[in-house]
Amino acid sequence: MASASGETVWVADEHVNDAVLAQVHPRADFRVLTNRCDIAARCEARGINVTLNDFIFPENVALAHVFFRVAKEKALVHHVINAGLAALAAGGTLWLSGEKNEGIKTYLEKAAARAGRVAELERGSGCTLGAIARTQQLGAELDDQFYPQLRHLQFDEVFSAWSKPGIFGWQKIDSGSEFLIEHLHDVFVEPPARVLDLGCGYGYLSLSAALRWPRAEFIATDNNLTAVTTCARNFSENKIQGEVIAADCGENVAGKFPAILCNPPFHQGFDVEADLTLRFLQGARRLLARGGRALFVVNHFIGLEKQAQPLFARVEVVARNKGFKLIALDA
Ligand SMILES: C[S@@+](CC[C@H](N)C(=O)[O-])C[C@H]1O[C@@H](n2cnc3c(N)ncnc32)[C@H](O)[C@@H]1O
Repeated sequence: MASASGETVWVADEHVNDAVLAQVHPRADFRVLTNRCDIAARCEARGINVTLNDFIFPENVALAHVFFRVAKEKALVHHVINAGLAALAAGGTLWLSGEKNEGIKTYLEKAAARAGRVAELERGSGCTLGAIARTQQLGAELDDQFYPQLRHLQFDEVFSAWSKPGIFGWQKIDSGSEFLIEHLHDVFVEPPARVLDLGCGYGYLSLSAALRWPRAEFIATDNNLTAVTTCARNFSENKIQGEVIAADCGENVAGKFPAILCNPPFHQGFDVEADLTLRFLQGARRLLARGGRALFVVNHFIGLEKQAQPLFARVEVVARNKGFKLIALDA
């Protein structure tokens, strides 16, 4: 094991917002590790050391502390526990926090079993913070479903793509997105020349639309670097013309698009986030060409129409099924 660096790493996924970051002060021995390009940009703007990658811990340093507020996805949490404990110096501490319904108790027990010491616990208003001190010898790794590995998946009889844990719905075709693709031809009568896939994940919407519109150029964007690199792999393997761009709600995407496809996130971490939906709508408004059309799919209980009304010339629910509605937005 490398010698102790005294450094602290804070693993930050989508839970971290401006209010949380505002409480962090830059220090030479403190670093944020994130896969979100918007979090990385905010850290840089505040002078906080940050590494943007797929939660790969620095090599050859033995950390003093690793902090992690548990994520939604089990494979990702298990990866951070495995890799975070391995990156600590003996006697270093893994701090895990989360709420009861997020499985924090089980995560702490599993982490303690790997580290060899029982976790110390602090509880308050539904949240638990646990500290696990690392012993020299680590026990068996938790099942992280081979988190770091990109893999080629056959999703159904016809659709296959590269994907991995850490990306929204990485093992499935999202039913809302599938519903959107089923209605593509009803909403866009003529094939568009350029398509923006806003919040692309591993790229399902682009890959499926490209089969129907083989001549179109596709720009796909997401704030999750893991999604961006995976989607880029899918673009190159499927010879899709276009580009995949890391951006916060399409912020640094340039140009105008006659067609925008979007299945917006309505959760940020574990919380329902209306502001994020609005920011996706504002991004679509900015990037939609005159005479263009954006097609959003949302759960039937999300009031997207109301948020969209002031931004677009026309807002129309074009299809519904049991769980979802498709909303066409005209510039
Ligand atoms: C509901 S998923 C849809 C993914 C993909 N389009 C599909 O159909 O499988 C929403 C996507 O938005 C991305 N996202 C969340 N917050 C974002 C932000 N601030 N900027 C850009 N993308 C974001 C997530 O990483 C996720 O990939």
